Amino acid sequence: MASESTFERTLVTSALPYANGHIHLGHIAGAYLPADIYVRYKRLKGGKVLYIGGSDEYGVPITLTALKEGITPQEVIDHYHGANEAEFKRLGISYDIYGRTSWDLHIDSTQAFFTKLNNGGYVYPQEMEIWYSPQSDRYLPDRYVKGTCPKCGYEDANGDECESCGAQYAAKDLVSPRANIPGDSSTPILRLSKHWFLDLTKFQERLKTWLDSHDEWRANVKGIAYGWVNELRARCITRDTDWGVPIPLDDPEAPSKRIYVWFDAPIGYVTNTRQWGINKGDPAAWETWWKDAGTRMVHFIGKDNVPFHAVIFPAMLMGQDDYILADYVVGNEYLNIYNRQTGKSEKGSKSRGNMISVKWALDQFPADVIRYYLCAIAPESKDSSFDWDDFMNRYNGELCDIVGNFVHRSLTMAVKNFGYAVPEPGPLDADDQAMLDAIPVQVDAIAEALEGFRFRQALERFIDLGRKANVYFDAKQPWVTRKTDAVRTATTLYVCCQIVKALCVTMTPFLPTGAKTLADVLSLALPEGGPGGGPDGWGLAKEILPAGSPLQAPQILFPKLDKDRIAELAEAHLRGEAY
Ligand code: MF3
Ligand code: ZN
Repeated sequence: MASESTFERTLVTSALPYANGHIHLGHIAGAYLPADIYVRYKRLKGGKVLYIGGSDEYGVPITLTALKEGITPQEVIDHYHGANEAEFKRLGISYDIYGRTSWDLHIDSTQAFFTKLNNGGYVYPQEMEIWYSPQSDRYLPDRYVKGTCPKCGYEDANGDECESCGAQYAAKDLVSPRANIPGDSSTPILRLSKHWFLDLTKFQERLKTWLDSHDEWRANVKGIAYGWVNELRARCITRDTDWGVPIPLDDPEAPSKRIYVWFDAPIGYVTNTRQWGINKGDPAAWETWWKDAGTRMVHFIGKDNVPFHAVIFPAMLMGQDDYILADYVVGNEYLNIYNRQTGKSEKGSKSRGNMISVKWALDQFPADVIRYYLCAIAPESKDSSFDWDDFMNRYNGELCDIVGNFVHRSLTMAVKNFGYAVPEPGPLDADDQAMLDAIPVQVDAIAEALEGFRFRQALERFIDLGRKANVYFDAKQPWVTRKTDAVRTATTLYVCCQIVKALCVTMTPFLPTGAKTLADVLSLALPEGGPGGGPDGWGLAKEILPAGSPLQAPQILFPKLDKDRIAELAEAHLRGEAY
C-alpha cells in the first residue's frame, strides 16, 4: 500500500450511469454523493483533485430502451445525457467534466486500448454460438434474449444469468429462448459468430499482487474482487450490434460487430479526462492524471460494478503498460426503499414503481436536505433503507435542531448585542478553553473519517460538534448573562463564533449551499480549489476568527420539514409518482 502522502494529486471517478433513464436516489447514495463529498473536501484542503463523470451511452441498455420507446438510440442518449447532467448539477455533484462515451474522441481512446491489448497478445478470436432471431434477422446479445432458467425453471431469466436463483450459464443452455423484442414471436436459433476475447488469465498473478497490496479496502470490495481473480476466465469483449465503438481490426467479420459496452465504458474516464484537458487548451494534460505515479486514482461505484473496477479495468490498464491503477475502489452496497404499507424494505425497481428520481426529489426539497439524509444513511458496508419518517426525523432532529439552531441563536445574539461583529472576549474560563480546545480535535476527527471513506461517520462527527456546542451554549446561558455581565456574554459568544466558523468550514463538503450562505454571513472566503490545487481552506476550521470580524444577520440555513407535507409525499411515492 502506497501511503497517501506519497501522492501529489487525486483523480476521482464516479461510475458513468447509462443514459437510458433518470438517475435515482439509490445511484446518488452509492456512487455520487460520497465521491462529491470527498472531492469537495480535497479541494477545500487545497489538494490537486480532478473529478470525472459522464454518461455511459453504448450497449444493450440503450438500444433496448430505444426499441421499447420506439425512438433511436441517439435520441435516447441525447435526452437522458442532458437530463442527468442537469440533475447532477442541481444536486451539487461537482464534476470537473461530465462527458459522453458517444464522443468521437472516445472511439480513439477505446480503439487504442483494444489495439494495445491485441498487440500484446491478450486478445484472441473465437467462434461462439449466439441466439439469433430469424424474424428480426439479428443476433440477440445479452438482454435481447430471455427464457427459462436451466437451473431453477424461472421463466423470465436472462440470456446468461437468472435473477431469481443467481445461476450463471452458457447462453446455449437457456431453455425455451425468446427474443426480447416487441413484436418478435419467432423461435431463436443458435448461430455461430466470431468474437474477440480478452484473456484475463494472463493478468492473474499481477492482479493478485495488486489486490494483496490493498488490504485497506472495504471487505465487501475485496471479497468480490478476490472471488473473481481466483476464477478468472477470458471475457468476450465484442458483440453483434451496430451500437458501439467499431472494432479496430482488419477482419471481414469485424464491421458487423462492435466493442462490448463494458470494455469501452471505463475507458470513458480516460476520454473525459482527455476532453477536460482539450477544453482548457492543454490536450496533453490527461497523461499526468493517468500515467504519473504521483496520481492517486479513486473509483466510486455500486457493488454490481466491483468486478469491472477491481479486476477487469485494472487488467486492461496493466495491458497498456504505462497507466496507473486505482489506489482505492469505494464499492457501495444498495439503498433499499422502506415500504410503509408492508413494513418491509425492498429493492428499488422501475417496474415496482418505488424508485425516487433525483429530478422529483429536487422538485420537493433543496439539495442540502437530500444530501444530508443520503449521507446519513449511505450504504457503506451494508444495505440501507430510505424511509420517509426517518428522513424527516434525522434532518429535522439533527441538522436543523442541533447545527442550524446553534448557529442561529449564536449569531442572532452576537449581531444584536455586539454590533454585527465577533465580540471581543474577556478572560477565558475553563469551559471556554475546553470548548475551544475541542474544536480542532473534532475537526481532525471529521477529516480522519473522510480520508478513510467513512462518510456517515464523518457526518456524525460533524453533528457531534454541533452537540458539544449546544451543551456549551446552554451551560453558559448568554441570554441570562446578557442582562448582568457584558464581558461574560461577549466571551461566550466569541467562543460560539469560533464554533460557527468551524461548522461552516466542515459542512462545506456535505452541504455546499448552507456552507456558502453561512460563509457569506461570516465574511469568510473559502477557497474553491480544483485540479491545480490552492490554499488550505479546511485548515480555517481550526483558526481563530478574530474579534471584530464582521458578521451579517443570520439566515435560516436549514428550514424544517413539515410533517403533513412529508406524509403527502410519502403517499405520492407509494402511488409510484416519485420517479
Ligand atoms: N453504466 C454502468 C452501470 O450503470 C456503469 C459504468 S461505470 C464505467 O452499471 F466504469 F464503466 F464507466
Ligand atoms: Zn434460476
